[in-house]
Amino acid sequence: MNKNFYITTPIYYPSGKPHMGHAYSSIIADIFARFKRLEGYEVLFLTGTDEHGQKIQKEADKNKKDPKKFCDEISETFRSLTKTLHLSNDDFIRTTEPRHFKSVNEIWNRLTKSGDIYLDKYSGWYSVSDEAYYDKDEIEEKNGKKISKTSGSSVEWVEEESYFFKLSAFQKKLLEHYKKNEDFILPKSRKNEVVKFVEKGLKDLSISRTSFSWGIPVPENKNHIIYVWLDALTNYLSALNFPNIADDKYKSFWPADVHIIGKDILRFHAVYWPAFLIAANLPLPKRVFGHGWILSDDKKMSKSLGNILDPIEVIKDYGIDQLRYYLIKEVSLGNDGSISMKNLKNCINNDLANNYGNLCQRVFSFIKKNCNNKIPKKSNLSESDIKLIQNIKNNLPKLIDYINNQNLNEYIKMVVNFSFEANKYFNDSEPWAFKKKDPERMNAILYTISEQIKNISILLSPIIPVSTKKVLETINLSDKDISIENIKKNDILDYNLELKNLDILFKKIENDN
Ligand code: ME8
Ligand code: MG
Repeated sequence: MNKNFYITTPIYYPSGKPHMGHAYSSIIADIFARFKRLEGYEVLFLTGTDEHGQKIQKEADKNKKDPKKFCDEISETFRSLTKTLHLSNDDFIRTTEPRHFKSVNEIWNRLTKSGDIYLDKYSGWYSVSDEAYYDKDEIEEKNGKKISKTSGSSVEWVEEESYFFKLSAFQKKLLEHYKKNEDFILPKSRKNEVVKFVEKGLKDLSISRTSFSWGIPVPENKNHIIYVWLDALTNYLSALNFPNIADDKYKSFWPADVHIIGKDILRFHAVYWPAFLIAANLPLPKRVFGHGWILSDDKKMSKSLGNILDPIEVIKDYGIDQLRYYLIKEVSLGNDGSISMKNLKNCINNDLANNYGNLCQRVFSFIKKNCNNKIPKKSNLSESDIKLIQNIKNNLPKLIDYINNQNLNEYIKMVVNFSFEANKYFNDSEPWAFKKKDPERMNAILYTISEQIKNISILLSPIIPVSTKKVLETINLSDKDISIENIKKNDILDYNLELKNLDILFKKIENDN
């Protein structure tokens, strides 16, 4: 069985500092990457920055900086955000790296060889901000300015010599691929959008520009810069040492298992990218998952509205696990979702502090007080103890299925419910009542609840890795013990060791405003 798993985030434009939307995509991808590692997969999790093109060149000019220097600085803030977010990415790619140039050159040459590139002249609308070409019917006029209907960014008229990719020739092949591979584009609603778009007919795509110089030159004609999206999409291969297809990385990880992206860049990933790959005679990624928008107080985040949430600020105030948990719990993956600081506070208090945090804290302090700080060994378990423990194990296939279908919301709902049930079990079983009259019963309860804490913590570890690590360390488990296999097993804890100290996991937030 193939136990490799390759997952990617979009590579972000280093045109301004990262915001909550970037953090959101990266956290989602990180959760899947971490879960697959728990399952025993060899995972490659890639993120990075998309540094070429007119948008970046303009931004650099505005800041009176050399574009490479400009990218160096802002790319570094994205790289540093991977640390702040506790991402487990295995690589961070920049499209200004030599490994990427090689790979883009090879893709260009393959497209030329297959006869899918020709030289002509482009005249039409272009949005620098989206780095996208738009048709007449995709733009509208607002306040005397022409803008894209979907993104709202302004477009300009472009007329220049350009290489074209014969996208029109791929309509049938793409539609066949969507049909044969039902889950190639998820969620379903997104897939339908794409199918409709492709059914309307595809125009050939301009894939080079001549009016600026910041990018990768066309190998046979240095006056042309390769279209930044053809350049950017290829990053997913560059990280695998493409064009060296005999390389272990390429052999192990291509085709990618899933590209996590926002719905704004679906067309590039679900139409252009597979068409380029078919032309280049390379296998297609297994899935493109387009998530929805994070809205800030019900509105799309934008500079002009001044409602851009800075993940670093939120993390400073509330904590990284708190943010990660909230984004996943509150926003239904695939749909747009509004976030607000008020809901974040409620979520921290109700779900994290009162539920999982409280469970761990009260159980450990009870064990400390009443059992010499050691989890009791397994003894006579009652039917309800066994039922509780078994419930998680029985549901593992379902949980794995949720993750494999990017159904994070059902996943988290089920795990939170385990935690809720465990709290209830602890209350209802009243271990304190048995301390004198039946210590063996008390021990059985504590054994059972500790088993639950272990298993719930493992299941929560992809979402809140920092706090679960603390909890698992408290019961003397280290990273290598944290696996789905160890949920299936009983008695993996060392019952001779004392518990480590556990500080407060989630501080309650006062509701002052
Ligand atoms: O498009 N809500 O880069 P980009 C949710 N360089 N996700 C959001 C978001 C929001 N409000 N805002 C941004 C590019 N995102 C290209 C990608 S890939 C080969 C090249 C996330 O910096 C979401 O994933 O504009 C979106 O697709 C991505 O950031 C766009 O980032
Ligand atoms: Mg964008």
